[in-house]
Amino acid sequence: MSEPPKILALLHEHRVIDPPEEFQRNAIADSEDIYEEAEADLEGFWASQAERLHWSQRWTRVLEWNPPWVKWFIGGRLNVSVNCLDRHLDSIPDRVAYYWEGEPGDERRITYRELHDEVCRFANALRRIGVRRGDRVAIYMGMIPELPIAMLACARIGALHSVVFGGFAAEALKDRINDASAEVLITADGGWRRGDIVPLKQSADEALEGSPTIRHAVVVRRTGQDVSMQSGRDLWYHELIEGEDTECPAEDMDSEDPLYVLYTSGTTGKPKGILHTTGGYLTGVSTTHRLIFDIHPETDVFWCAADIGWVTGHSYIVYGPLANGTTSIMYEGAPNFPDKDRLWAIVEKYGVTILYTAPTAIRAFMKWGERYPKAHDMSSLRLLGSVGEPINPEAWMWYWTHIGGERCPIVDTWWQTETGMILITPLPGITRLKPGSATRPFPGIQADVLDESGNPVPPGAGGYLVLRRPWPAQFRTIYGAPERYVEQYFSRFGPEIYLTGDGVKRDDDGDFWLLGRIDDVMNVSGHRLSTYEIESALVDHTAVAESAVVSRPDPATGEAIVAFVTLKADVEGDEALIGELREHVAKMIGKIARPHGIILTEDLPKTRSGKIMRRLLRDVARGQALGDVSTLANAEIVKEISTMASEMAEEE
Ligand code: PRX
Repeated sequence: MSEPPKILALLHEHRVIDPPEEFQRNAIADSEDIYEEAEADLEGFWASQAERLHWSQRWTRVLEWNPPWVKWFIGGRLNVSVNCLDRHLDSIPDRVAYYWEGEPGDERRITYRELHDEVCRFANALRRIGVRRGDRVAIYMGMIPELPIAMLACARIGALHSVVFGGFAAEALKDRINDASAEVLITADGGWRRGDIVPLKQSADEALEGSPTIRHAVVVRRTGQDVSMQSGRDLWYHELIEGEDTECPAEDMDSEDPLYVLYTSGTTGKPKGILHTTGGYLTGVSTTHRLIFDIHPETDVFWCAADIGWVTGHSYIVYGPLANGTTSIMYEGAPNFPDKDRLWAIVEKYGVTILYTAPTAIRAFMKWGERYPKAHDMSSLRLLGSVGEPINPEAWMWYWTHIGGERCPIVDTWWQTETGMILITPLPGITRLKPGSATRPFPGIQADVLDESGNPVPPGAGGYLVLRRPWPAQFRTIYGAPERYVEQYFSRFGPEIYLTGDGVKRDDDGDFWLLGRIDDVMNVSGHRLSTYEIESALVDHTAVAESAVVSRPDPATGEAIVAFVTLKADVEGDEALIGELREHVAKMIGKIARPHGIILTEDLPKTRSGKIMRRLLRDVARGQALGDVSTLANAEIVKEISTMASEMAEEE
């Protein structure tokens, strides 16, 4: 890991917005008492939230904390799919669970009863092809209803799902399948994206060439294009569920049994399989969903416009909303297809009341202009949310004005794949909002700001964001790598303190202002990417000897990727090769990881022990004055690289 830069807090933002009165009057969380209650009795607070779920056996203890290991609702038993589906069948069988809209304009409306039946049929089919409790099932799909159906079917029979974002390439899919030793892959022939077909099955076929543990691939027919089906291995979803029963006995799971693995980028090494469990996770996501989004399930139409391939979709499209009996929107495609008002047309059509999206999307909407939202009646909206990266105050104000009509509170929610649930956020009926600040920790959450030596820093200064106390939806380990769990998250400040990897500033009111990552993880369009993975993809190319990847701020995507590459001795570098390298990364990891700029250089700046000094490269990429170069073994190279980087910036 490169040395973390000193964290500076430069942004000064003074606007404050009180919760609108009408909102406050009807809010579920409507008084400060909730913070005090959780503070006074943490276990009691979470136990009362857990009681909203259906347990086949009640827990005997709420929390067991042997730092850094944690367990919640010990001895409790439940099934997540029963809680998301069966539990609602008596009371709200005909309520719509998902209004689904495909990119080409096709529609499906799925009630809780229908979702239950479809999940049961597929769960029976999975059992029939040999999937058992504890097995791992990889899912690689676009945003179609069969994606949550597949996840819930796994949850029903106690298999762990590992959803791999449909925008990832074959190589990335292969690595994730192999790390989890998945036995079944669920995919689709293709998916629609901006009018084109994403060839999911074709990428899956490539991945499966190197994934020996997969016995079967189940393929959903979505786009209808020709795909190759390997006899014996590949099975069509619609054939598989034919004749299956709409009832399927659910596995009785222990509260601490695993629910899923979701891969995310870390600072070093291959992607980490973040492992989430059952009782605590469902308690955490359903509670935060209900209180932060102020869910009134009889009337709300909730839209988390993320992809289920990321944790946001797991927690706030699938598990939180379904546990709360919510009606959600699910949209397959791009926000600018067929035109740049697609999202606003959907808001109008379904009367969406709550919209949750990412700053990178909001900045794109800003760039496209307010005439697109203006063309639609969006008066149904009453609450807005933001997630994935710090939202700049300008984007916040634009969202507030042009999407929320200056009446909808905005909840800027900070959390991570690892945390499973939102941890720093306003409660919209209570919290005074500050554009650009995620405001305060959720009830019961103890967040702190520490300096290098682990001392709390005073208000106004920057530091490391840490969490000092467990919460129910936190991940329990890294799949197959418990030592990495301890080392990466719980060693810097001791086993009781969770290191988030983010920098933060706390203001005089105690409100938190997130400052971005402080390690080698980048955040491009709200998606976490590791420098290491992209470097490995570059070095995989036959022309490349060595590479170092950093990021620099970008007005559209938050951060943009810049790669410094040294070529092998006999290779001549030119524009064509640079283009080839960019495509190589796209092919290996996915288009989101394609470097914005590549700088070919003779050498990379290194310490005398041979460590690449990414901090310097980051300064170079950002056109900043260089810090201390006295520890460099090859100081002259920095000058050369700086010249090249400024030439590249001028060309843009
Ligand atoms: O840097 C923080 C940023 O996204 C990281 C987590 O990424 P991931 O695990 O992919 O999960 C994203 C969705 C939960 C964090 O370490 N981040 C997320 N939300 C915010 C944020 N940064 C600032 N403000 C936020 N609201």
